[in-house]
Amino acid sequence: MARSIWSYLATAAALLALKATSGGASSYNGLAVTPQMGWDNWNAFGCEVDEELLMNTAQKMVDFGLRDLGYHYVILDDCWSDGRTSNGSLQANAAKFPHGMRYVADQLHSMGLGFGMYSSAGKYTCARYAASLGMEKQDAQTFADWGVDYLKYDNCYNEGQEGTSMLTYNRYKAMSDALVATGRPILYSMCNWGMDYPWNWAQTMANSWRMSGDVYDSFDRPDARCPCTTYDCRLPGFHCSVMNILNKAAPILNKAQPGAWNDLDMLEVGNSGMTDDEYKTHFSMWAIAKSPLIMGTDVTRMTPQTLSIYSNAAILAINQDPLGIPALRVWQSPAQRQNETYSVDAYTASETSFWTGQLNGGDYVAAFVNAGPGPATMMATMNDIFIDQVTTGSNAPVPQLMQTWDVFDLWANRMSDASAQAIIVGNMTMATNATDGSNATSTLPVQTYNATATSYADGLAANDPALLGVKVSTMAPMGTLVAQVPGHGVVVYRLRSQGGAGRRKRDEL
Ligand SMILES: *[C@@H]1O[C@H](CO)[C@@H](O)[C@H](O)[C@H]1NC(C)=O
Ligand SMILES: *[C@@H]1O[C@H](CO)[C@@H](O)[C@H](O)[C@H]1NC(C)=O
Ligand SMILES: *[C@@H]1O[C@H](CO)[C@@H](O)[C@H](O)[C@H]1NC(C)=O
Ligand SMILES: *[C@@H]1O[C@H](CO)[C@@H](O)[C@H](O)[C@H]1NC(C)=O
Ligand SMILES: *[C@@H]1O[C@H](CO)[C@@H](O)[C@H](O)[C@H]1NC(C)=O
Ligand SMILES: *[C@@H]1O[C@H](CO)[C@@H](O)[C@H](O)[C@H]1NC(C)=O
Repeated sequence: MARSIWSYLATAAALLALKATSGGASSYNGLAVTPQMGWDNWNAFGCEVDEELLMNTAQKMVDFGLRDLGYHYVILDDCWSDGRTSNGSLQANAAKFPHGMRYVADQLHSMGLGFGMYSSAGKYTCARYAASLGMEKQDAQTFADWGVDYLKYDNCYNEGQEGTSMLTYNRYKAMSDALVATGRPILYSMCNWGMDYPWNWAQTMANSWRMSGDVYDSFDRPDARCPCTTYDCRLPGFHCSVMNILNKAAPILNKAQPGAWNDLDMLEVGNSGMTDDEYKTHFSMWAIAKSPLIMGTDVTRMTPQTLSIYSNAAILAINQDPLGIPALRVWQSPAQRQNETYSVDAYTASETSFWTGQLNGGDYVAAFVNAGPGPATMMATMNDIFIDQVTTGSNAPVPQLMQTWDVFDLWANRMSDASAQAIIVGNMTMATNATDGSNATSTLPVQTYNATATSYADGLAANDPALLGVKVSTMAPMGTLVAQVPGHGVVVYRLRSQGGAGRRKRDEL
C-alpha cells in the first residue's frame, strides 16, 4: 500500500528508530534506553569529595523532587581513592569515606538512587590516583562488589594507547567486557573526550561517550585550552564553552541511538558563570541533543532559578522521549567559517541556528538558538522543520506540510521562583514567601512532574499538561514558525499535528 511505503521512506531518522526499536538489541547491556540523568560532583566540587557530600546531595535530590524527575545517579568523580590494598584491590580513602563504598551504595539504594563510580582507562586518574588500565577485571569486580550502578571512565595517563580508533576501542572495550562479566548491570559512561571518534564505534560497548573536551561555566568565551571548533580534534582540552561544544556536536548528533548517546558533558546550570537565558539555552540544547543530563552544581545550595531550570519537565520529556532521535541543526546563520579566528565560540557574535527533531507519536521539537547579544525575531518554514521528509528524494507527498500544527512553548510553564523557593525550604519551618504571601507549612509543594510514578512515555501518551508546556499558537499548512528569542537565548517548541496523520504513521510502524 502506498501509505505504508511512505512510512518506510518517511525519514532516515524514522528508519534509524525502526532499527533501534524493532530490529533487535537497542542497547548492548539493556541500560540507558533513554539518556541517563543524575548528578556528578566534579563541576562544583572538584576533588573535595566525601561521604557527607554525597549523602547531603542525595537527600536534597529526594526532597526537591529531582530524583522523581528522573535524576537517578549520584556520581562520585575523581579523588575518592587511596590506592590499592596489598592484594591489589582499589580502596576508598578512609578519611573521606569512613564507612566504605558498600555503605554509600546501600544508602543511595535505600533512597531509590543509583551509585556512580569513577576511574580512568589509564595508569592514573586525572588527579593521579590509581586507575584501571590493565586492572579492568579486578576493578570491575570491586565496583560490582561495592554495589556500583554506573562507571564514568576517564582518559588520563593512557600511556599513548590512543591515536587510532582501534587502540582507543580496545582500551575501553576491556572495561566494558569486565563490567559485563561481573553480571551486575552497570551503566558504562566513556569519558574519552571525543578522541578517535567514539561516535563511530562505541555503540556496541558503551552507553555514552564524551564527544568533546570538558565543558566550563561560560556560554561562548573561547579558551586556549580548548583549541578545536570542530569534531575532528587532536587536542580536546578543557574549558570548552557551551557554544563551542554545541557547534562541535551538531554534525555527529545523529550517531546516537537508544542505549548509546553523545555526552556533551555535565551541566553547569547553577554555577553562576552564565545568565539565566544562557543556562536555559545550555539545558535545552543538551536535552534535545539527547545528551545525558548530569547536574553539575551544589544541589544543597540551589537557587529557585536553578531548581526551576533542572525541573522543567516539558524539556526533560524531549530528552527522555522514547524514540531517542537527537535533533538536527537545520541551519546556522551566518554559515560556519572554520578558518577564521573568532572572539567568541559562537561562529560569529551574531550566530543563530534552527534545530528540529522527530519525537515519538508524530510530534516534533523545534528550537531557535540566538547566540547574539541582543534579541532576535527568528523564523523557520515548514520546509525547514520537515527537512528530512522534504529531502527523501522519493517524490512522495510530505503529509506534514499539509497539516495544521499546534505549537507548544516548552518554557512557558516554567515553575515560578516562589514555588521553587517553597520546594527548597519545603521541609523547614520558616518563611517561604509562597505565592500567596503567607509562610508555607510543612507540606511539601508539588514538583512539576513525578516520573517515578508515571514514566515520561506514559505521561506523554496521556497528554499530561506538565510535559506539553503551553500552547501558544497554531501553524497552518505551509506556514511559518516565528519566535522572539532573547540574546544568548533559546525558544523551544513541541509541534503536534491537529490532523493526527503523524500518529497514524507511527501506528503502522
Ligand atoms: C513520586 O511518586 C512516587 C511513587 O508513587 C512516590 O513514592 C514519591 O513520593 C513521589 N515523589 C514526589 C516528589 O511526590
Ligand atoms: C582484597 O582485600 C579486600 C579487603 O582488604 C577484599 O575486600 C577484597 O575482596 C580482596 N580482593 C581480592 C581480589 O582478593
Ligand atoms: C581553510 O581550511 C581548509 C581545511 O582545513 C583548508 O584546506 C583551506 O586551505 C583553508 N583556507 C584558508 C583560506 O585558510
Ligand atoms: C528535611 O527532610 C529530611 C528528609 O525527610 C530530613 O532528614 C531533615 O531532617 C529535614 N530537615 C528539617 C529541617 O526538617
Ligand atoms: C521574602 O521576601 C522579602 C521581600 O522581597 C525578603 O526581604 C525576604 O528575605 C524573603 N524571605 C525569604 C525567606 O525568602
Ligand atoms: C512568616 O515568618 C516570619 C519568620 O518566622 C514572621 O516574621 C512573619 O511574620 C511570618 N509571616 C506571616 C504572613 O505569617
